[in-house]
Amino acid sequence: MMSTLFAILLYLATLVFVVGLLYRIGVYTRTPAPLKIPTTPAPTTTGGVVLRMTREVLFFESLFKANLWTWGLGWLFHASLALVLLRHLRYFTEPVWAWVALIQPFGMYAGIAMLFGAAGLWARRLFVERIRYISTPSDHLMLVLFIVIAVSGLTMTFVVHTDVIAVKGFILGLMYFAPFHSDSQALPASVALYVHLFMVAVLLLIFPISKLLHAPGVFFSPGRNQADNPREKRHIAAWAKQLESEK
Ligand code: HEM
Repeated sequence: MMSTLFAILLYLATLVFVVGLLYRIGVYTRTPAPLKIPTTPAPTTTGGVVLRMTREVLFFESLFKANLWTWGLGWLFHASLALVLLRHLRYFTEPVWAWVALIQPFGMYAGIAMLFGAAGLWARRLFVERIRYISTPSDHLMLVLFIVIAVSGLTMTFVVHTDVIAVKGFILGLMYFAPFHSDSQALPASVALYVHLFMVAVLLLIFPISKLLHAPGVFFSPGRNQADNPREKRHIAAWAKQLESEK
């Protein structure tokens, strides 16, 4: 019963996530950037922009310059989240790739770091008056969502173990559409696992309509992805160019 419910929920959530995200990225791609507005000092070449963007995505460079505390907590949260997600690849692959096996212990402790980061970022929103004032319910709820996912995950890792072999069987079954055959694998009965998977489904469902879109969005930010070359190369939006040729 629970297996069927979760199978339906996870299929639906994955579909909404993939289609919603592709739709959003499509909209971002078509949105015109009519002005030349790189945040200066900015690189003057495309290669320089790639380097700047890489530093921004990997190290959160602009946040580092803006606020050390927010940078520290934010970077800790994101870097550990990445490790945790990579560690999860073991549920989705058979055989498990060597490097995924290698990072397992790091991924485990990254779960704790991720919780610490998310809790710190939430404390910032709750206790720093200036930040509390500009925080919306969704700002709080996204952090709570990550905290609940991390706590339920860590509960399984460190407190009440769940049958991870069965979890893997269930996930592989979903991937090969086994629920539509008779040989589908059941999800082990575990409250922590139910909470974990339910919140993961919620995360996937709301991702395309949430602030988490900053993940693909950063690449489309004109202040970051433009080269500072207005004199060498005229910047003109496609629609403006069309107006010119009609003259
Ligand atoms: C369908 C997707 C997912 C499945 C099947 C899943 C399953 C699990 C399981 C079984 C554990 C316990 C591991 C153990 O006992 O050793 C766990 C731990 C954890 N999960 Fe997930 N999870 C999923 C998605 C996610 C996502 C999207 C996040 C983060 C946003 C996340 C965050 C964590 C954390 C922080 C831990 C504890 C640290 C660790 O053991 O890696 N999980 N997950």
